Amino acid sequence: MTEATSIDRRPTRVVDEFARRYGRSAAFIVRAPGRVNLLGEHTDYNGLPVLPMAIDRDIVIAGAARADRVVMLQNIEAQFGARDYEVNEDIAPFAAGDWGNYSKAAAQGLMRYCGGQLPHGAELLVDGNIPSGAGLSSSSALVVGNALALLAANDVDVRYITLAELLPAAERYVGTLSGGMDQATSLLAQPGHALRIDFFPLRVRTLPLLRGYSIVVCHSLVQAEKSGPAKRAYNLRVIECRLACRVLERALGSGLPRPLQTLGDLVTLFPGRPLVEFVSLISTQAPDRPLSLAQIAAIIGTAPERLRSECHITADLGDRFALMRRLRHVLCEAERVDQAEEALLAADAPGFGRLMDASHQSCRDDYEISCVELEELVRIAKEAGAAGARLTGAGFGGCTVNLVADAEVQTFLRRVDRSFYHARSALAPDIHRCRFIFKPHSGAEVRRL
Ligand code: GLA
Repeated sequence: MTEATSIDRRPTRVVDEFARRYGRSAAFIVRAPGRVNLLGEHTDYNGLPVLPMAIDRDIVIAGAARADRVVMLQNIEAQFGARDYEVNEDIAPFAAGDWGNYSKAAAQGLMRYCGGQLPHGAELLVDGNIPSGAGLSSSSALVVGNALALLAANDVDVRYITLAELLPAAERYVGTLSGGMDQATSLLAQPGHALRIDFFPLRVRTLPLLRGYSIVVCHSLVQAEKSGPAKRAYNLRVIECRLACRVLERALGSGLPRPLQTLGDLVTLFPGRPLVEFVSLISTQAPDRPLSLAQIAAIIGTAPERLRSECHITADLGDRFALMRRLRHVLCEAERVDQAEEALLAADAPGFGRLMDASHQSCRDDYEISCVELEELVRIAKEAGAAGARLTGAGFGGCTVNLVADAEVQTFLRRVDRSFYHARSALAPDIHRCRFIFKPHSGAEVRRL
């Protein structure tokens, strides 16, 4: 791997345990971090930018190549049972929600990319410390880690930027229509920096952090597994955005040079035009309330079944689609990312905090991805003096991200513990695992042993 550097902070237990379980030495170890997103929520799959950074929690995998194409997968944690499967270009999934599917997702994606040229499977042992269902991207870190492990087993180099482009599509194997933020951050993060990531094509640039401020992550204690209950709600948002594209196409009529692949195309097709103008435009076509597919098809001037098949709308998503407010969130959120980048470059912490607060309100009111516990945490955070506080990741539970002046961090934590975690000690026996401060970490690494 060209990007390989030393891995010095992880304990050796995964390597020792590998030898104990598989009866031979590991030949390589890979590390893939989780991420927290500062701003730009649910913009990535719309081709609009995000502002994340890697956290210091990660997935570590020790591995060794096998002569055949079998992958044997084990986890240090007993709750994740041993799995094995054969690598090919069309791998049948384990049951929905099974952790082994993230490994299969990576393997199938790489096999398709390499035209079947990965002759070796691997014995792998996973040791992760990213809380799952917390909106910190444990699943994508697992996909990235498995992909790097399989490439190491086959002695194949693929550039990280290429992996960051192909793994999001590979991860859709688990049934969630996610964008590319998580994999790109896990692979390409830079220590001490936030990233601005743009999509289609993928572009990444590093941004400075706000001096004198800490990023504090707090878990709402509500699990939001993207491959579980949150999947339908997440996928529905993706489809609502696809439908909003179609209504906008109709509204723009002959003023549109080509069909919209994503909402992000508006930036390239109408340079300099404020994105919020398109919100006013869609409101001339679609009222601000959920519509049925038949109503949307009538607005567009097409048949409902045709629209269903063109937008890949599955029956489990139901028949109520909110377009106006979803569009308002996505386009305003993209403008906030631009403004937030300027705030970082200008070292304007209060300005950045205000954008975080506005993002949270929009996630709650227009994208409807918050929940009671996240609201309580954000309210407490603001009362405790956070410059900015918002949900992070897909939403529906998981974590908040907070911008807190260094001098106020201890007071902030005491306040959050007292007002939120103490009343939930049954759910959170170890408070220190529920909220943490971190410095942005480096992206994924591979080391040969
Ligand atoms: C999840 C997805 C990402 C992104 C976020 C929301 O983490 O995996 O692609 O859409 O939700 O911003």
